[in-house]
Amino acid sequence: MKHTITLIPGDGIGPEVSKAVKSILAAAGVEIDWEEIASRAEVERRGVDFMHAGVLESIRKNRVALKGPMETAVGTGAPSINVGLRKALDLYANLRPVKNLEGVQSRFHHVDIVIVRENTEDLYAGLEHTVVPGVVESLKIITERASTRVARFAFQYARKFGRKKIHAVHKANIMKLSDGLFLTSVRKVAAEYPEIEYKEIIVDNACMQMVLNPNQFDVLLLTNLYGDIMSDLAAGLVGGLGVVPSGNIGETVAVFEAVHGTAPDIAGKNVANPTALLMSSIMMLRHIDEIEAAQRVEGALFTVYREGKSLTRDVGGTASATEFTDNLISTMGN
Ligand code: NAI
Repeated sequence: MKHTITLIPGDGIGPEVSKAVKSILAAAGVEIDWEEIASRAEVERRGVDFMHAGVLESIRKNRVALKGPMETAVGTGAPSINVGLRKALDLYANLRPVKNLEGVQSRFHHVDIVIVRENTEDLYAGLEHTVVPGVVESLKIITERASTRVARFAFQYARKFGRKKIHAVHKANIMKLSDGLFLTSVRKVAAEYPEIEYKEIIVDNACMQMVLNPNQFDVLLLTNLYGDIMSDLAAGLVGGLGVVPSGNIGETVAVFEAVHGTAPDIAGKNVANPTALLMSSIMMLRHIDEIEAAQRVEGALFTVYREGKSLTRDVGGTASATEFTDNLISTMGN
């Protein structure tokens, strides 16, 4: 079956890693018509705002997108496209499986955690204003609707993929109303899934427990800000952002993306590691029911890392990005 998928190559190393992923998926025999979106800079040169340049229409039509990293200015400048896409497309669940990749050095072994993060509200609602000069207010929005639906997503995911335990992570001892509402919403959903062990843990303790003994965790369910922080922390346990995938899932559409940034320091040098985007594309293949192709690409990726012969320098190798990609493709053919 042929799929039409929106591709947002993004900025910096985005176009390089996207190109590598496209060639690997083509070599795996997946038939994809990529509907490619121009870079933000190119769109803005034409005097058009990126979010109004057809990207939303393309994703809504195709229902699936693969996205490279996009640049966001710190403190000032235009709002984040990443946050904009999640809001505009109502991609309410951010899913990040975090697992060791054999061949990548890390402090912990046998880590296998799935992080489910609410993706549309909390402090990321973007409701900030200056009350008087020197005083800024930033609103934390938590709703029963968003908390319930992300909880349902997490429990359904756990049931479907045989996960045994979910920890809801919170700070309801201090934020009694907002995090309290999150917890009461999650508890109601948890009651519908008696076969899945349900636990609650305060976010600061959760961070400590993660770096002491991550193997005690199975699925973590979090609001937006805690989820953002803890999912990077979790990535650090298995070797960093270069080796973890991510998916943003809504009712009808899904956007898969690497969680690292645009890496301006190495852009254009043919050293950017495509692994994170490739792993996200493997999640995407499973999402579109290309299970066999997903298995084939993942198997080749695991072999390349296990053998350790053509790894890029961010994971301790000396290979160029092209050498890594070519080796992976020839491994798949063997
Ligand atoms: P970054 O992830 O771009 O870079 C951090 C370090 O990791 C750099 O040394 C970089 O060379 C390295 N690195 C990142 N990806 C790599 C890869 N695939 N292969 C090899 N090395 C890699 O983070 P930074 O510098 O904080 O952000 C740069 C820009 O990226 C900012 O404009 C930021 O807003 C944006 N960004 C975008 C994201 C997205 O679109 N999802 C996520 C994070 C940051």
